[in-house]
Formats: sequence, C-alpha cells, structure tokens
Amino acid sequence: MPNRLQSKVAIVVGAGSIGPGWGNGKATAVAFAREGAKVLCADINLAAAEETASIITQEGGKAKAIAAVVVFGGIVVMGGNPLR
Ligand SMILES: NC(=O)c1ccc[n+]([C@@H]2O[C@H](COP(=O)([O-])OP(=O)(O)OC[C@H]3O[C@@H](n4cnc5c(N)ncnc54)[C@H](O)[C@@H]3O)[C@@H](O)[C@H]2O)c1
Repeated sequence: MPNRLQSKVAIVVGAGSIGPGWGNGKATAVAFAREGAKVLCADINLAAAEETASIITQEGGKAKAIAAVVVFGGIVVMGGNPLR
C-alpha cells in the first residue's frame, strides 16, 4: 500500500456493519487504515464500531471506536476515547 493517508486522521461515520459482512463504512474505515490513517470509527452501534476498529488494530493499524449518531450533518457523540 502506498500510505497515501499517513499522518492523517480519518473520521468514518457508520463505520460498523449491520450484518456479518462488509458495509460501505466498515470497508472505508479499513481501507483508510491500510493507507496509513488513524481512524475514528463512529457508529450508532458501538459494538459494530468496535468490531471494525478491532480489524484495523489486528492488522497493525490505529483505530478507536465511538458511539455516535449522525443527524443531518450534525454529530452527537454519546461516548468515546480520544485518538493518540
Ligand atoms: N453494501 C452495499 O453493497 C450497498 C449497495 C447499495 C446501497 N447500499 C445502501 O447503503 C446504506 C448502508 O449500507 P451498507 O451495507 O453499506 O452498511 P450497513 O447497513 O451494513 O452499515 C451501516 C452502519 O451505519 C450505522 N448507522 C446507521 N445510521 C447511523 C447514524 N445515524 N449515525 C451513525 N451510524 C449509523 C449502522 O449502525 C451500521 O453499522 C444502506 O442504506 C444500503 O441500502 C448498500
């Protein structure tokens, strides 16, 4: 991978997946991490965000999961941890 996002932080909303497969947000979060980004995985379903973050960290990337709901462009953070 060319690391086009090295030293960048990406915030991906809807970063989980409803089912066991790969939704768009989950795939985007992992793809960004594979490009070197630190990824904040935000999802209304914290467990789904954590599952995506776990894939990233197991691959050696950096990710944090937060519970967040996105409504009309506004983000209401319900809980989470800062990226380091
Ligand atoms: N996956 C595909 O191939 C595909 C193709 C065409 C259209 N779509 C459409 O794209 C949309 C997403 O589907 P998907 O399969 O990519 O992903 P998905 O439905 O598996 O996952 C979406 C994630 O977004 C989260 N989410 C939903 N509303 C949210 C909100 N307001 N704030 C924060 N998180 C929220 C859900 O908890 C879930 O984890 C759906 O409307 C789907 O119909 C998907």
